[in-house]
Amino acid sequence: MNKSILALTAAIVASLGLQACSGGGTKSSTSKLPVYLDPDKKVEARVEDALARMTTAEKIDIIHAQSKFSSAGVPRLGIPEFWTDDGPMGVRPDVLWDEWEQAGQTNDSCIAFPALTALAASWDVDLATLYGKSLGEEANYRGKNMILGPGVNIIRTPFGGRNFEYMSEDPFLAGKMAVNYVRGLQNNGVAVCVKHFALNNNEDNRFTTNVIVDDRTLREIYLPAFEMAVKEGGAWGVMGAYNLYKNQHNCYNEVLTNQILKKEWGFDGVYISDWGGTHDTEQAVKGGLDMEFGSWTNGLNNGSQNAYDSYFLADAYEKGIEEGKYDISTLDEKARRVLRVMFRTDVRNRPNTGSMNSEEHYSAARKIGSEGVVLLKNEGNILPLDPSKGGKILVVGENAIKMMTVGGGSSSLKVQNEVLPIEGIKAALEGKMSVDYARGYVGDTTGEYNGVVAKQKLYDPRPASTLISEAVSKASKADYVIVVGGLNKAPHQDDESYDRTDYALPYGQSELIEALAAANPKIIFVNISGNPVELPFIGKIPAMIQAWYLGSEAGNVIADVLTGKVNPSGKLPFTWYARLEDCGAHALGAYPGKANGTTSLAGGYEAPKVDEEYKEGIYVGYRYEDKESITPTFAFGHGLSYTTFEFTGVKLSSKSTKDGAMTFTVGVKNTGSCDGAEVVQLYIHDNEASVDRPYKELKGFARVFLKAGQSANVKITIDKRALSFWDTKTSAWKAEPGTFTALIGDSSDNLPLKATFDLK
Ligand code: BGC
Repeated sequence: MNKSILALTAAIVASLGLQACSGGGTKSSTSKLPVYLDPDKKVEARVEDALARMTTAEKIDIIHAQSKFSSAGVPRLGIPEFWTDDGPMGVRPDVLWDEWEQAGQTNDSCIAFPALTALAASWDVDLATLYGKSLGEEANYRGKNMILGPGVNIIRTPFGGRNFEYMSEDPFLAGKMAVNYVRGLQNNGVAVCVKHFALNNNEDNRFTTNVIVDDRTLREIYLPAFEMAVKEGGAWGVMGAYNLYKNQHNCYNEVLTNQILKKEWGFDGVYISDWGGTHDTEQAVKGGLDMEFGSWTNGLNNGSQNAYDSYFLADAYEKGIEEGKYDISTLDEKARRVLRVMFRTDVRNRPNTGSMNSEEHYSAARKIGSEGVVLLKNEGNILPLDPSKGGKILVVGENAIKMMTVGGGSSSLKVQNEVLPIEGIKAALEGKMSVDYARGYVGDTTGEYNGVVAKQKLYDPRPASTLISEAVSKASKADYVIVVGGLNKAPHQDDESYDRTDYALPYGQSELIEALAAANPKIIFVNISGNPVELPFIGKIPAMIQAWYLGSEAGNVIADVLTGKVNPSGKLPFTWYARLEDCGAHALGAYPGKANGTTSLAGGYEAPKVDEEYKEGIYVGYRYEDKESITPTFAFGHGLSYTTFEFTGVKLSSKSTKDGAMTFTVGVKNTGSCDGAEVVQLYIHDNEASVDRPYKELKGFARVFLKAGQSANVKITIDKRALSFWDTKTSAWKAEPGTFTALIGDSSDNLPLKATFDLK
């Protein structure tokens, strides 16, 4: 791509009668370029210069797709095409121009980084930077201007099919991780596209769900992660969600897009439709949509191919302008935003950091995975395994032999390599412990997505009874049994477009684990999922690890944790409910909503609309557990280590604050016998408020690595926003003077330190 752009630039410059600069030219030669092509000029100057030269047709051309993932540049002016790609966990392989099938490139196998739930479970903002940086370098190498991620929607119900692509039930944790992911990625000159704005919290009826949510809940729970990614992270792109809010589609929503995102937060980037999320020209024009992708329609009948001129922001928009229905300034503003992101991500301006499948990227993926894995239970310190003692290991379960990077929707990848759990475990124990395998259950055996085929065949015709008895018989002779199970990327598991339908583990895994536990007390359950699942057997097994979707290095990471090469330090980014009814949305019958009227989709098609009222309001996740005094199986923020930590005390920067700023210095000591990392979590409790507030809310965290016996003072600073609620009377954040208590510890249910202070 670089070469063709340079050639084109040279041609343009020649046609303008200027002296062309050869690749990467000097200051004096580049200054002869027209302003819009001159990388030494400010982006805004380049944008205005380009805009002034463009015809209406050229402006229209750059604001809608020309293929599945690209939009046109301005060939006459030498402005290159704009290429996007999924996202968010690796750079998706190229598909055909107007098909979802593979383009068949030989240079698009990538590294799969761990899913964003795993990243969030590390509670390590520096790791989020590394994630963005590594992914940005891969995107850069592949010539992509924009990565379609990160996903920062709130994990509202464990049924959410895309929760594995999102980060947390808590807006502060999701927001902080997103900010650094955005910065890390954009430092490579590759734009993010933070998605899906907003209120995309479940997948069933995703095109037709109209979310009804009160203003306070919207502001306190569902918007902050986006707000932080935009205001703190400086995101260059945001993608609208499919669903509706106030009966208007979110790809062009007057309140969300125009008023909040663009006006209030000052977002100056490009607002992109989700693929096929646009249904009407007038609404898209007026509702703040800047770029339309994936409509796959001629505006009348769904399903036309290569119908890009018939997109809602294409010919129909141009005709409306010619007829005087729409003014040119609105088009200019859309084109301006598109040009801005084009110049911000100008390939000729990018630092030369593009690289793919490098050793650094594999080690980044491994590090992110290692810090994200959560040790949920470890009775009698059964873990880590000590390979030097020898013995027999039995590995059971389909997920031990299943590639998880294929499937799940748009985040599906074509990896250069994926280490399966069984491969990682075998490699780590080779020559020390014997490793046998039993399938235990058969789940999803498809192993193919959009033409990318998984490396192994999973078909097994044996009935469940045979699989269970084989596993139980082998288990009775083993020293340890490692069950690698959980969910997968098939429909109704962890998969785009579909929600889960059952909180229980699928394919009879609970029965299998109960049977194994009766045969051998030393069961270690490695759960792979992006969601919590019901664990009726948890009292009968000594150890459990939450291993997420770990990408290319999955097997190595799991083996590292099992053998203690890595001391686990991840903390749950969501509540692990004991029962589905312990989640507010389900307890209150507020999911998945009720049919109410219709909504117009592309092609004038009236589809039944579903109204989903978020009746639990601000009480999402641990906020609801606190309110109802519910004890979950594992609390938000929970995660064990092979060492132990003590919280030795907290000091405040002052007893009171006028502007809300406060610094807490927290003493932490590694009191165990091995090195490890701890996450200091700080929650704010408002001692007295004029409105109903959650008992506590996460407002600060910091990760600290300590050698055995070592102590450290960890500083956490908060600001006024940490003390505030959204005041619906004034439509503004409000921090009420009074007393607040900071609750500090290593999990939302273990907060031994308390510090009280006043807001004057
Ligand atoms: C998904 C987006 C994705 C896009 C392009 C849509 O169906 O919702 O998250 O980026 O497809 O693949």
